[in-house]
Amino acid sequence: MKLINVATPEEGAVKAAEIVIKQIKEKPASVLGLPTGGTPIGLYSELAKAVKSKHVDFSQIQTFNLDEYYGLSKDDPQSYYTFMNVNLYASCGLRSDQTHIPSGTAPDAEVEVNAYEAAIAQAGGLDLQVLGIGGNGHIGFNEPGTDPKSRTHVVTLTRNTREANARFFTSIDEVPTRAMTMGIQTILDAKVILLLVFGANKADILFDAFKGPVSLNNPASFLQNHPHLIVIADTAAATRLYA
Ligand code: GLP
Repeated sequence: MKLINVATPEEGAVKAAEIVIKQIKEKPASVLGLPTGGTPIGLYSELAKAVKSKHVDFSQIQTFNLDEYYGLSKDDPQSYYTFMNVNLYASCGLRSDQTHIPSGTAPDAEVEVNAYEAAIAQAGGLDLQVLGIGGNGHIGFNEPGTDPKSRTHVVTLTRNTREANARFFTSIDEVPTRAMTMGIQTILDAKVILLLVFGANKADILFDAFKGPVSLNNPASFLQNHPHLIVIADTAAATRLYA
């Protein structure tokens, strides 16, 4: 694992954008795996700036998001599709045929998750997967206890995760109870993984993920097995790694 320590999330966003842009310059038709959440917003705004100034060309990339709430339509203000459209697709001029997110309103969720996994394989697999980490170690929506061999699947969200994500909704009751997510093995199959971890509230889970055992209790700990993992952590998140 390569650990890049940055002073602030803003600096982390710039470093992360450099890595993503390098990937796209080396392979213009790169297949990117992308996260939602507060963590990648700075990265997405750096990428939008780079596209606008013609520093990078996104016209051939394909993107696959990690996850989507089950039960929310694409145009629901809280859907991850809306999040991506607002934070990346529109500002980077991505066409709809370039972007992929599981459909939260698919009539048969099992059919949808299997088709999503097949679409990733059809695209040639993920070249670079960008990740955030949940407070309980979840990656995508792979909660503690998830089979490390899992592929894209339907999950029941933990109370902890629904509480953490309630800040984007009016109340916790509005946070869906189920979601669709790439599995841990889907993520681990990416050629390169770029994990972004910012803030003191992530310090303990980051420490457990990389200084503790590989364990079902902390899904992010399975990243220890990945041959090409880059972690960008700000000082607040990384303090315990260096202590
Ligand atoms: C959500 C997403 C995860 C993300 C996590 C952390 O639950 N499904 O992919 O990593 O939140 O979010 P944040 O970056 O806001 O801390």
